[in-house]
Amino acid sequence: MSGAATVRRAVIAGTGSALPARCVTNAELAETVDTTDEWIVERTGIRTRYIAGDGETTATLATEAARRALAAAGIAPDAIDLIVLATATPDQTFPATATKVQAALGIDDCVAFDVQAVCSGFLYALSVAESMIRSGGARTAIVIGAETFSRILDWEDRTTCVLFGDGAGAVVLTAADVAEGSDTQGILAVRLHADGRHNELLYVDGGPSTTGTVGKLRMKGQEVFRHAVTNLAAVLREVSTAAGVETGAIDWVVPHQANRRILDATARKLGLAPERVVVTVDRHANTSAASVPLAFDAAVSDGRIRRGDLIVFEAMGGGFTWGAAIARY
Ligand code: UT7
Repeated sequence: MSGAATVRRAVIAGTGSALPARCVTNAELAETVDTTDEWIVERTGIRTRYIAGDGETTATLATEAARRALAAAGIAPDAIDLIVLATATPDQTFPATATKVQAALGIDDCVAFDVQAVCSGFLYALSVAESMIRSGGARTAIVIGAETFSRILDWEDRTTCVLFGDGAGAVVLTAADVAEGSDTQGILAVRLHADGRHNELLYVDGGPSTTGTVGKLRMKGQEVFRHAVTNLAAVLREVSTAAGVETGAIDWVVPHQANRRILDATARKLGLAPERVVVTVDRHANTSAASVPLAFDAAVSDGRIRRGDLIVFEAMGGGFTWGAAIARY
């Protein structure tokens, strides 16, 4: 008797996250830059952010998040055959921060590399890992978003320095063979985009091949805002169609956390209930590639997101790059 056809899927086995020890309030920032708690809360929804101190780096935060995700999944580090780490703030220009995480986890041999798509980095990394699992190139992967944006901020520029924070989030993915057409578990669809014409709206003014320096973040916030709402609404529709999912069936939206107003405007545009949107921007601020897995782990840890829930991840950032994924957790 021949069995039903199966397809290979990447299933989310566990989540984890890590934040620096130091939490910084808006009021503390107002002591050194010309801003107020009222302005920051009203325009962004941000109340606090975590800032890395001595000894805390993108790799240390990423390693801690990965350890917690492995523990949640009940998987030993030596079962990992792939680490994909999304970051725009690596510990070193090279080698990849993923290899530092690999060494810190005590994994002797696996594939390990970084992905650079700024705030969309986690979506890009998830897509790469998911593709490798689906094609048989990997069985068990850690996908990490980790950043120390505090180290590329111009702390005298009030239009950017109040918006960002540091942190890391991770998921462990495992291969599973499921019945074709089934939507009972795993990543169901991913859609990614980039439009390099918008470089000057959000960029860092340095780099190894241009200035030979690390550089500082520069952003034309209002224009980024406008593109973000349009692009995110479009890619959310696109990924829902690709997965054959009605927006009404989505249990949770786990968005990139840049600005509370972007989250609200995008949800409104798509007719998504605001209480279905996971919001951590108030506590974490914008942690770039770390923000989606950080928010995801927060909602899994506090019991909001449960096994079997249908989840949409989305992000948009420098490049521009943007993307979305749908998964049954
Ligand atoms: O993660 C990648 C994607 N990034 C984003 O999605 C960020 C998108 N953009 C945004 O979130 C918003 O555009 C910002 C939060 C960056 C800015 O909010 P806005 O409502 O667009 O404000 P604005 O840039 O139009 O500035 C309004 C005023 C200006 O003063 P004038 O020109 O009206 O006198 C700014 O100088 O607010 C002033 N301002 C500030 N005031 C107090 C700018 N930053 C500050 C500040 N404190 N920190």
